Amino acid sequence: MPQIKLAPSILTADFARLADEVRSAEAAGVDLLHLDVMDGRFVPNITFGPALVRSLRKITNLPFDVHLMVVEPERQIEAFAEAAETINVHIEVSPHINRTLDAIHRLGKRAGICLNPGTPIAAIEESLRDVDQVMVMTINPGWGGQQMLPAQLDKVRRIRALLDAAGSTAELEIDGGVKAGNALQCVHAGASVLVCGSSVYNAEASVVENVAALRRAMN
Ligand code: DX5
Ligand code: ZN
Repeated sequence: MPQIKLAPSILTADFARLADEVRSAEAAGVDLLHLDVMDGRFVPNITFGPALVRSLRKITNLPFDVHLMVVEPERQIEAFAEAAETINVHIEVSPHINRTLDAIHRLGKRAGICLNPGTPIAAIEESLRDVDQVMVMTINPGWGGQQMLPAQLDKVRRIRALLDAAGSTAELEIDGGVKAGNALQCVHAGASVLVCGSSVYNAEASVVENVAALRRAMN
């Protein structure tokens, strides 16, 4: 089985020391950096935009997994594509999803599709063959540090079955509330990428210790 990828989210990192926080994650051997872009409309919170993503590109070689929690994500793709490897858009705000995924691919980037806890799998089923990644939200997006909604793991299992049946090699990413205590359950449900915000960036231990604890929990 290929190694499960860890994608720390900087959402709960110390923004005053952001470069150091990112470098610590890279030194800890994580696989990706998850960047949560929020617009205050699709979700209540506002985070950061493409300028910050471009700046981070200068200080790390980690691939960037950009999570667009914005309305009309198709209008933002180009601005983020410059510095990102993967661009993830929410199905709830993408009425023309095929066109949007196509636009991401035409920029030479990997395309991901995300679904909120209340969104049924049927909403993305027709697009599965067109994506490089499916992201299942295991919290309602907006903030880090929330408890995982365990019922969403069943959705992960069902999407894993659909991807396998189609012979798809798309990544299956879980975002929200991933901790050392539930990481193995996420893997057993069929996830291949785990987003980890507050379980990596918190005051209790160092980034290196937290990443090591997550890896131990998965094995
Ligand atoms: C929330 C974000 C997540 C979240 C992860 O809207 O998409 O990436 O911040 O943080 P934790 O792991 O703390 O739930
Ligand atoms: Zn996210």
